[in-house]
Amino acid sequence: MKKMTTTSFREAKGQKKLTMLTAYDYTIARLMDQSGIDALLVGDSLGMVMLGYPDTLPVTVEDMVRHSAAVARGASTPLVVCDMPFMSSQCGVEDTLRNAGRLVKEGRAQAVKLEGGADFAPEIRALTRASIPVMGHLGLTPQSVNALGGYKVQGKSMGAAQKLLDDARAVQDAGAFALVLECVPAALAARITSELEIPTIGIGAGPDCDGQVLVWQDMLGMFDRVAPKFVRRFGEVGEAMRTAFTSYAEAVRDGSFPAAEHCYNMEDEAEVLSNLY
Ligand code: KIV
Repeated sequence: MKKMTTTSFREAKGQKKLTMLTAYDYTIARLMDQSGIDALLVGDSLGMVMLGYPDTLPVTVEDMVRHSAAVARGASTPLVVCDMPFMSSQCGVEDTLRNAGRLVKEGRAQAVKLEGGADFAPEIRALTRASIPVMGHLGLTPQSVNALGGYKVQGKSMGAAQKLLDDARAVQDAGAFALVLECVPAALAARITSELEIPTIGIGAGPDCDGQVLVWQDMLGMFDRVAPKFVRRFGEVGEAMRTAFTSYAEAVRDGSFPAAEHCYNMEDEAEVLSNLY
Protein backbone atom coordinates (compact mmCIF):
# COMPACT_ATOMS: atom_id res chain seq x y z
CA MET A 1 0.00 0.00 0.00
CA LYS A 2 1.17 3.53 -0.78
CA LYS A 3 2.11 5.88 2.05
CA MET A 4 -0.69 8.34 2.83
CA THR A 5 0.44 11.94 2.38
CA THR A 6 -1.23 15.19 3.39
CA THR A 7 -2.10 15.62 -0.31
CA SER A 8 -3.77 12.21 -0.67
CA PHE A 9 -5.49 12.76 2.68
CA ARG A 10 -6.92 16.06 1.48
CA GLU A 11 -7.90 14.65 -1.91
CA ALA A 12 -9.88 11.86 -0.20
CA LYS A 13 -12.59 14.37 0.76
CA GLY A 14 -15.83 13.27 -0.89
CA GLN A 15 -14.22 10.03 -2.15
CA LYS A 16 -14.16 7.95 1.05
CA LYS A 17 -14.54 8.35 4.80
CA LEU A 18 -11.17 8.97 6.45
CA THR A 19 -10.08 6.96 9.50
CA MET A 20 -7.74 8.32 12.14
CA LEU A 21 -6.78 6.96 15.57
CA THR A 22 -4.38 8.25 18.15
CA ALA A 23 -1.13 6.29 18.51
CA TYR A 24 1.73 6.86 20.90
CA ASP A 25 4.14 3.96 20.36
CA TYR A 26 5.70 1.62 17.79
CA THR A 27 3.74 -1.55 18.62
CA ILE A 28 0.34 0.10 18.38
CA ALA A 29 1.35 2.01 15.24
CA ARG A 30 2.23 -1.30 13.55
CA LEU A 31 -1.09 -2.86 14.53
CA MET A 32 -2.97 0.15 13.14
CA ASP A 33 -0.79 0.10 10.01
CA GLN A 34 -1.78 -3.54 9.49
CA SER A 35 -5.46 -2.57 9.99
CA GLY A 36 -5.64 -0.04 7.16
CA ILE A 37 -6.08 3.10 9.29
CA ASP A 38 -5.48 6.20 7.13
CA ALA A 39 -3.81 8.48 9.69
CA LEU A 40 -2.21 8.15 13.12
CA LEU A 41 -2.43 11.12 15.44
CA VAL A 42 0.29 11.40 18.06
CA GLY A 43 -2.10 13.37 20.24
CA ASP A 44 -1.12 15.32 23.32
CA SER A 45 -3.84 13.17 24.94
CA LEU A 46 -0.78 10.99 25.58
CA GLY A 47 -0.32 13.17 28.67
CA MET A 48 -3.51 11.66 30.10
CA VAL A 49 -3.61 8.10 28.73
CA MET A 50 0.13 7.32 28.68
CA LEU A 51 1.68 9.60 31.30
CA GLY A 52 -1.17 9.85 33.83
CA TYR A 53 -1.52 13.64 33.98
CA PRO A 54 -4.97 15.08 34.82
CA ASP A 55 -5.03 17.04 31.52
CA THR A 56 -2.86 17.67 28.45
CA LEU A 57 -1.20 20.86 29.74
CA PRO A 58 2.07 19.40 31.15
CA VAL A 59 3.02 17.64 27.89
CA THR A 60 6.32 18.89 26.43
CA VAL A 61 7.78 19.08 22.94
CA GLU A 62 10.30 16.43 24.08
CA ASP A 63 7.45 14.06 25.00
CA MET A 64 5.89 14.57 21.56
CA VAL A 65 9.19 14.14 19.69
CA ARG A 66 9.91 10.82 21.41
CA HIS A 67 6.43 9.36 20.89
CA SER A 68 6.10 10.68 17.35
CA ALA A 69 9.40 9.09 16.31
CA ALA A 70 8.26 5.74 17.74
CA VAL A 71 4.93 5.95 15.88
CA ALA A 72 6.63 7.00 12.64
CA ARG A 73 8.87 3.90 12.80
CA GLY A 74 5.77 1.70 12.91
CA ALA A 75 3.64 3.53 10.34
CA SER A 76 4.65 2.45 6.83
CA THR A 77 1.32 3.44 5.24
CA PRO A 78 -0.69 5.81 7.50
CA LEU A 79 -0.11 9.55 7.58
CA VAL A 80 1.57 10.56 10.85
CA VAL A 81 0.32 13.79 12.42
CA CYS A 82 1.83 15.09 15.66
CA ASP A 83 0.14 17.49 18.09
CA MET A 84 1.81 20.75 19.05
CA PRO A 85 1.59 20.59 22.87
CA PHE A 86 0.42 23.44 25.10
CA MET A 87 2.66 26.55 24.87
CA SER A 88 4.58 25.25 21.85
CA SER A 89 2.40 27.27 19.45
CA GLN A 90 1.21 30.10 21.72
CA CYS A 91 4.42 32.18 21.99
CA GLY A 92 4.61 33.65 18.52
CA VAL A 93 5.33 32.56 15.00
CA GLU A 94 9.08 32.01 15.35
CA ASP A 95 8.75 29.82 18.44
CA THR A 96 5.94 27.85 16.76
CA LEU A 97 8.09 27.26 13.68
CA ARG A 98 11.02 26.01 15.77
CA ASN A 99 8.85 23.63 17.80
CA ALA A 100 6.99 22.30 14.77
CA GLY A 101 10.33 21.87 13.00
CA ARG A 102 11.48 19.55 15.82
CA LEU A 103 8.32 17.44 15.51
CA VAL A 104 9.08 16.96 11.80
CA LYS A 105 12.90 16.69 11.94
CA GLU A 106 13.27 14.60 15.10
CA GLY A 107 9.75 13.20 15.49
CA ARG A 108 9.45 12.33 11.77
CA ALA A 109 5.85 13.59 11.70
CA GLN A 110 4.47 14.42 8.23
CA ALA A 111 2.25 17.18 9.65
CA VAL A 112 1.47 18.95 12.91
CA LYS A 113 -1.89 19.60 14.55
CA LEU A 114 -2.49 22.96 16.16
CA GLU A 115 -5.44 24.00 18.34
CA GLY A 116 -7.08 27.37 17.62
CA GLY A 117 -8.91 29.47 15.04
CA ALA A 118 -8.47 32.83 13.31
CA ASP A 119 -6.11 34.06 16.06
CA PHE A 120 -3.64 31.38 14.94
CA ALA A 121 -3.85 32.10 11.20
CA PRO A 122 -0.36 33.72 11.19
CA GLU A 123 1.18 30.58 12.74
CA ILE A 124 -0.66 28.26 10.32
CA ARG A 125 0.40 30.41 7.38
CA ALA A 126 4.05 30.48 8.49
CA LEU A 127 4.14 26.71 9.03
CA THR A 128 2.56 26.05 5.64
CA ARG A 129 5.08 28.40 4.01
CA ALA A 130 7.86 26.44 5.73
CA SER A 131 6.46 23.21 4.17
CA ILE A 132 5.10 21.95 7.48
CA PRO A 133 1.51 20.88 6.76
CA VAL A 134 -1.01 21.81 9.45
CA MET A 135 -4.14 20.05 10.66
CA GLY A 136 -6.37 22.53 12.51
CA HIS A 137 -8.38 21.71 15.64
CA LEU A 138 -11.55 23.60 16.64
CA GLY A 139 -14.50 23.14 18.98
CA LEU A 140 -13.47 21.68 22.32
CA THR A 141 -9.75 22.41 22.33
CA PRO A 142 -8.43 20.60 25.43
CA GLN A 143 -5.41 22.91 25.84
CA SER A 144 -7.93 25.70 26.60
CA VAL A 145 -9.66 23.72 29.35
CA ASN A 146 -9.02 26.47 31.91
CA ALA A 147 -10.36 29.20 29.63
CA LEU A 148 -13.37 27.13 28.52
CA GLY A 149 -14.31 26.26 32.11
CA GLY A 150 -14.12 22.50 31.57
CA TYR A 151 -14.62 19.92 28.84
CA LYS A 152 -17.88 21.15 27.29
CA VAL A 153 -19.63 20.88 23.93
CA GLN A 154 -18.83 24.00 21.86
CA GLY A 155 -20.85 25.96 19.27
CA LYS A 156 -24.30 25.44 20.76
CA SER A 157 -25.55 29.05 20.57
CA MET A 158 -26.00 31.16 17.44
CA GLY A 159 -23.00 33.35 18.27
CA ALA A 160 -20.74 30.44 19.17
CA ALA A 161 -21.75 28.52 16.01
CA GLN A 162 -20.98 31.54 13.80
CA LYS A 163 -17.58 31.97 15.50
CA LEU A 164 -16.76 28.30 14.87
CA LEU A 165 -17.72 28.56 11.20
CA ASP A 166 -15.64 31.75 10.81
CA ASP A 167 -12.69 30.09 12.55
CA ALA A 168 -12.98 27.03 10.30
CA ARG A 169 -12.86 29.25 7.20
CA ALA A 170 -9.87 31.16 8.62
CA VAL A 171 -7.94 27.95 9.37
CA GLN A 172 -8.57 26.68 5.83
CA ASP A 173 -7.65 30.04 4.28
CA ALA A 174 -4.40 30.10 6.26
CA GLY A 175 -3.40 26.84 4.56
CA ALA A 176 -4.47 23.92 6.80
CA PHE A 177 -4.92 20.64 4.89
CA ALA A 178 -7.54 19.20 7.30
CA LEU A 179 -9.48 20.18 10.40
CA VAL A 180 -10.41 18.28 13.56
CA LEU A 181 -13.80 19.21 15.05
CA GLU A 182 -14.16 18.09 18.66
CA CYS A 183 -17.42 18.07 20.65
CA VAL A 184 -19.46 20.16 18.24
CA PRO A 185 -23.20 19.65 17.56
CA ALA A 186 -23.64 17.27 14.62
CA ALA A 187 -25.66 19.76 12.53
CA LEU A 188 -22.99 22.46 12.87
CA ALA A 189 -20.19 20.01 12.00
CA ALA A 190 -22.20 18.98 8.90
CA ARG A 191 -22.52 22.64 7.84
CA ILE A 192 -18.80 23.31 8.34
CA THR A 193 -17.94 20.10 6.44
CA SER A 194 -20.09 21.08 3.46
CA GLU A 195 -18.59 24.61 3.34
CA LEU A 196 -14.92 23.63 3.54
CA GLU A 197 -12.79 22.22 0.75
CA ILE A 198 -10.50 20.48 3.25
CA PRO A 199 -11.60 17.32 5.11
CA THR A 200 -13.07 17.59 8.59
CA ILE A 201 -12.26 14.86 11.09
CA GLY A 202 -14.81 14.56 13.86
CA ILE A 203 -14.58 13.42 17.44
CA GLY A 204 -17.96 13.93 19.08
CA ALA A 205 -19.04 15.88 15.99
CA GLY A 206 -21.53 13.52 14.35
CA PRO A 207 -21.54 11.31 11.25
CA ASP A 208 -21.29 13.97 8.53
CA CYS A 209 -17.65 14.86 9.02
CA ASP A 210 -15.30 13.59 6.30
CA GLY A 211 -13.64 11.26 8.78
CA GLN A 212 -13.49 10.24 12.42
CA VAL A 213 -10.82 10.05 15.11
CA LEU A 214 -10.85 8.36 18.52
CA VAL A 215 -8.33 7.88 21.29
CA TRP A 216 -7.39 4.21 20.98
CA GLN A 217 -7.53 3.46 24.71
CA ASP A 218 -11.12 4.81 24.74
CA MET A 219 -12.33 2.71 21.80
CA LEU A 220 -10.81 -0.45 23.29
CA GLY A 221 -12.20 0.05 26.79
CA MET A 222 -8.81 0.55 28.41
CA PHE A 223 -9.19 3.98 29.99
CA ASP A 224 -12.05 4.36 32.45
CA ARG A 225 -11.07 7.69 34.07
CA VAL A 226 -13.37 9.52 31.65
CA ALA A 227 -16.24 8.12 29.53
CA PRO A 228 -17.23 10.63 26.84
CA LYS A 229 -20.65 10.13 25.22
CA PHE A 230 -19.10 10.06 21.74
CA VAL A 231 -16.98 6.95 22.33
CA ARG A 232 -18.05 3.54 21.06
CA ARG A 233 -16.14 0.59 22.46
CA PHE A 234 -14.98 -1.52 19.53
CA GLY A 235 -13.38 -4.07 21.85
CA GLU A 236 -13.11 -4.92 25.54
CA VAL A 237 -9.34 -5.07 25.54
CA GLY A 238 -9.00 -3.58 29.04
CA GLU A 239 -11.02 -6.48 30.47
CA ALA A 240 -9.08 -9.02 28.38
CA MET A 241 -5.80 -7.57 29.71
CA ARG A 242 -6.95 -7.62 33.34
CA THR A 243 -7.96 -11.29 32.90
CA ALA A 244 -4.58 -12.15 31.35
CA PHE A 245 -2.57 -10.29 34.03
CA THR A 246 -4.57 -12.04 36.78
CA SER A 247 -4.03 -15.50 35.19
CA TYR A 248 -0.29 -14.79 34.89
CA ALA A 249 -0.06 -13.83 38.57
CA GLU A 250 -1.99 -16.97 39.58
CA ALA A 251 0.18 -19.23 37.39
CA VAL A 252 3.40 -17.80 38.84
CA ARG A 253 2.08 -18.13 42.40
CA ASP A 254 0.82 -21.71 41.97
CA GLY A 255 3.99 -22.81 40.12
CA SER A 256 2.26 -23.78 36.83
CA PHE A 257 4.30 -21.16 34.96
CA PRO A 258 6.95 -21.57 33.69
CA ALA A 259 6.27 -25.17 32.58
CA ALA A 260 8.75 -27.60 30.98
CA GLU A 261 8.19 -26.16 27.48
CA HIS A 262 9.31 -22.71 28.66
CA CYS A 263 12.65 -23.97 30.07
CA TYR A 264 16.12 -24.40 28.49
CA ASN A 265 18.04 -27.67 28.94
CA MET A 266 21.77 -28.24 29.35
CA GLU A 267 23.93 -30.86 27.68
CA ASP A 268 24.84 -33.63 30.18
CA GLU A 269 22.80 -31.86 32.81
CA ALA A 270 23.28 -34.35 35.65
CA GLU A 271 27.01 -34.56 35.10
CA VAL A 272 27.52 -30.78 34.82
CA LEU A 273 25.49 -30.10 37.94
CA SER A 274 27.23 -32.78 39.99
CA ASN A 275 30.64 -31.34 39.03
CA LEU A 276 29.87 -27.72 39.92
CA TYR A 277 31.59 -26.50 43.08
O1 KIV B 1 -4.79 14.73 21.60
C1 KIV B 1 -5.68 14.12 21.01
O2 KIV B 1 -5.84 12.88 21.16
C2 KIV B 1 -6.57 14.85 20.14
C3 KIV B 1 -7.78 14.16 19.62
C4 KIV B 1 -8.78 14.03 20.69
C5 KIV B 1 -8.33 14.79 18.42
O3 KIV B 1 -6.35 15.99 19.89
